[in-house]
Amino acid sequence: MSATEPSIDRVLFTEEQVERRIAEVAAEISARYAGRELKLIGVLKGSVFFLTALARRLTVPVRVDFLSISPFGNQKGAPGVVRIAKDLDEGIQGEHVMLVEDIIDTGFTARYLLQNLAGRGPESIGLCTLLDRTTRRIVQIPVDFRCFEIPDRFVVGFGLDFKQLYRNLGYIAALKHD
Ligand code: IMP
Ligand code: MG
Repeated sequence: MSATEPSIDRVLFTEEQVERRIAEVAAEISARYAGRELKLIGVLKGSVFFLTALARRLTVPVRVDFLSISPFGNQKGAPGVVRIAKDLDEGIQGEHVMLVEDIIDTGFTARYLLQNLAGRGPESIGLCTLLDRTTRRIVQIPVDFRCFEIPDRFVVGFGLDFKQLYRNLGYIAALKHD
């Protein structure tokens, strides 16, 4: 498959591969949560594309809610420290919730969000990610469901951006200049 976009170096996962893998993971999640309702919590904006694709494949009753985060203070001075810029619309007390991420890299973001959400009294909390780059992990976090493990390359597509571009690509690709 040749990439049409000039900045794309190599396609890591084609649109077909991504869709097929999401269907597999959705089946796993549906089995795990059979008989329950599940709230998917997406992190704006990256996880929106994955969350909607996943949600459409789930067979359990699903609710969705979103939050967004931004770096806390000086980005360079405090790596991995984030704050919630836009919070969820509704509470999650007593609910089964699943944090849905586009990518888990160092793990700082997911750890912060899991701790924050856990403090709101959900019945259970899970973590699902489209991409997992374990080679760069700094803090260990439990990843319950993941679609793909990726090498140490900066990637775009299926929600992931470079300067807010490429989110709408149906495939996942590495950029020419890392
Ligand atoms: P971390 O796990 O806290 O290091 O941060 C993960 C966040 O960094 C993700 O939610 C993305 O927004 C961003 N990110 C990390 N790696 C990539 C990449 O390869 N492409 C695009 N965004 C990335
Ligand atoms: Mg993100």
